[in-house]
Amino acid sequence: MTGPVASPADAIAVIDPNSYADWNQALDVFDRLRSETPVVLIESPDGDFDPFWLLTRYEDAMRVSKDNTHFLNAPRATVFTNKTGEAFARQITAAQGEESPNLVSSLVQLDAPKHTKLRRLTQEWFMPKNLRTIEAQIRELAAKTADKFVAAGQGAPGDDKIVDFVQLVAAPYPLHVVMQILGVPEEDEPRMLFLTQQMFGGQDEELNKSGLANLAPEQILQIVSGAVKDFEAYFEGLAAQRRANPTSDVATILATAMIDGEPISARDRAGYYIIVAAAGHDTTSASTAGAMLALARDPEQFARVKADRSLVPGIVEEAIRWTSPVQHFMRTATEDTQFGDVTVKAGDWLMINYVAANHDPAQFPEPRRFDATREANRHLAFGAGAHQCLGLHLARLEMRLLFEALLDRIDSIELAGEPRRAKSTFVGGLKTLPLRFTAS
Ligand code: HEM
Repeated sequence: MTGPVASPADAIAVIDPNSYADWNQALDVFDRLRSETPVVLIESPDGDFDPFWLLTRYEDAMRVSKDNTHFLNAPRATVFTNKTGEAFARQITAAQGEESPNLVSSLVQLDAPKHTKLRRLTQEWFMPKNLRTIEAQIRELAAKTADKFVAAGQGAPGDDKIVDFVQLVAAPYPLHVVMQILGVPEEDEPRMLFLTQQMFGGQDEELNKSGLANLAPEQILQIVSGAVKDFEAYFEGLAAQRRANPTSDVATILATAMIDGEPISARDRAGYYIIVAAAGHDTTSASTAGAMLALARDPEQFARVKADRSLVPGIVEEAIRWTSPVQHFMRTATEDTQFGDVTVKAGDWLMINYVAANHDPAQFPEPRRFDATREANRHLAFGAGAHQCLGLHLARLEMRLLFEALLDRIDSIELAGEPRRAKSTFVGGLKTLPLRFTAS
């Protein structure tokens, strides 16, 4: 490894979940690193992470994302894979008979050829053509969600009612959509929400419900591993039901999936359910809340979109860029590669930081500004290349239908308190968004 090394303070800013809770401060660090040392080595001050290269430029993040031959996922897909975590995961998976550095084996932890074969199983299902078959169902859910929100926020005239958009809309709506796809009955949704928050919000004491601030990595891993076990048991039961009574949902595809003439393994199936369940809602929820925050802060933009619904897709796309809910993924280099003056060696670990890439001013003029009319918004929030988000058309559809429903009902909105962000290095976004609004 030869190249610039980040200061300990900057290294902490990149790997400490707390730092992402202060969004502007995190963006300041990325801006400085991008202009001074766009490819920089991050060394963990406590030695718990192997050093990795942080990429903050859009073009570098794009290059690595698209090159799935020279930059692999399998060795270590996220920064969760610290040394303690890896040892713990190996211990648990070895006891299950298939030692691996990852507790879950899912699409994001796999490379070709297995990744290609597994992804192909559901690829068509997630394309716009098939999604049209469930559009009416999602539209209905969007309308119900918007009605519920309006009912909760409408007090007597002059009544100053404050509602939390995250709790009422942004969290439950995408969860409900993804659970319908996976065939999870409504009464089990709270359990699924709890489990994904434990897995992805594992670093935020409010979201993981442990009540313990600043958990040690081993404690976080205990929480995550408990959540994984619960998920696996739950979805094996669901798969058995779908084999007995097949439908047209994703759950049925996974329950009956074959690769090279063999049924897929229980671990692969559980990993698939888990990635769709987990990746499918917290992400969309964060972008949805971000869009609403931007509109609440900018009444003029709100009025423009309300008057011209052709701007809704622009709101959706900009919200996804602006929030970049998936904050990073990692890759491992298969051979020595040059990034300007920096040589990344074979075996080195790299962080594609989507937040930094999507705020690169060389690609997005005035990147911190939320602009529904931004042109050529080719953001990287969904990634690129072989692992590009499987659910991107679904996420866009869900958000468009929801904002159409909300704009039909709401006349004005304003912020009614400080919104708070989750502490997370991986999937992050608002956990509260207090609003006041008028509706007719
Ligand atoms: C705004 C919402 C969303 C964002 C920002 C997002 C972002 C991402 C990103 C960054 C990746 C990794 C890309 C890469 O490594 O190159 C990814 C992968 C994935 N996403 Fe999404 N996602 C969203 C919504 C969804 C939804 C709604 C679903 C499914 C219901 C979904 C399912 C997946 C799956 C299964 C993968 C793994 C794909 C693979 O490795 O082949 N995502 N997503």
